[in-house]
Amino acid sequence: MFIDSEKYHTAADYLKSQVSTENLPDIAIISGSGLGGLASGLSGNTITIKYDVIPGFVKSTVHGHVGELVFGSLSGRKVVVMRGRFHCYEGYSVYDATFPVRVFGLLGVKTLIVTNAAGGLNQEYSVGDIMIISDHLSIPGISGKNALIGPNIDEFGTRFPSVSDVYTPRLRVLAAESYLRNPKLASNTKNSLREGVYGWVMGPSYETRAECRALLTLGCDAVGMSTVPEVVVAKHFGMEVLAFSLITNEAVISKEPSSIKIAQDRINGISSSQQKKEVFANHEEVMEVANERASDLMALVRDFVGML
Ligand code: 6GU
Repeated sequence: MFIDSEKYHTAADYLKSQVSTENLPDIAIISGSGLGGLASGLSGNTITIKYDVIPGFVKSTVHGHVGELVFGSLSGRKVVVMRGRFHCYEGYSVYDATFPVRVFGLLGVKTLIVTNAAGGLNQEYSVGDIMIISDHLSIPGISGKNALIGPNIDEFGTRFPSVSDVYTPRLRVLAAESYLRNPKLASNTKNSLREGVYGWVMGPSYETRAECRALLTLGCDAVGMSTVPEVVVAKHFGMEVLAFSLITNEAVISKEPSSIKIAQDRINGISSSQQKKEVFANHEEVMEVANERASDLMALVRDFVGML
């Protein structure tokens, strides 16, 4: 269940045997659903390593997640891109899901950039908006699923790390600046740059209407099934963190249609007023929007890395 320090070192040593010292990264990028294409934009002599051959890595089982690390250069910086991540809803523990982050730390990574696809709760948000994550609400975390539970590995970090400013304020400003300075992004009138709170839920079922309303009431602007475990482990390790959500769909917060009202109308011979057609979250829609806006989010990550 808990993972020993030695296992992280074994994975890091393996990667060091495959990647020359001058190509070891100081930035790691974890790409979310449909957003792994960033890896193909890397320059220099890129090195691709499948998760299957890395000791301690589990397999990525989700459609749209490739399952490989790509080492290379982005905007003149050495990076490693994770094409596909591990989620707890796949049956992986938070320890397996966050394993790569500590391995990256041992390779010398100081900055973690994370992207994900998320459902918009904030009623001002539109599908296709990009949200800089300013903070998170970890529903599993506060109820007992925190990746730091277990014997603390002092070599990696302290027993009780602060996560108040886990999304590094300086990096969030740089990210906003990158967006606003990019002519293509800044001139997009259909979509906006947002900054907000990400609510982490386990999935894999999407949220009920009541759960969406609850998350909104609790202060979340978007909801998704990833990112938080990795980010907490990165902060524990002492990394700086930046994370983006691509809003791929609207989470449904409206009340269920009243069966009693519909029944009364039927008895009285009145035709019930038409309910607005709601689109419920589905994986195809999420992937479609992610694919459409992927290049914009990748451009943003590339510009941001150039400003670091
Ligand atoms: Cl609506 N919910 C969750 N949990 N994850 C999502 C999502 C919604 N949309 C994209 N990912």
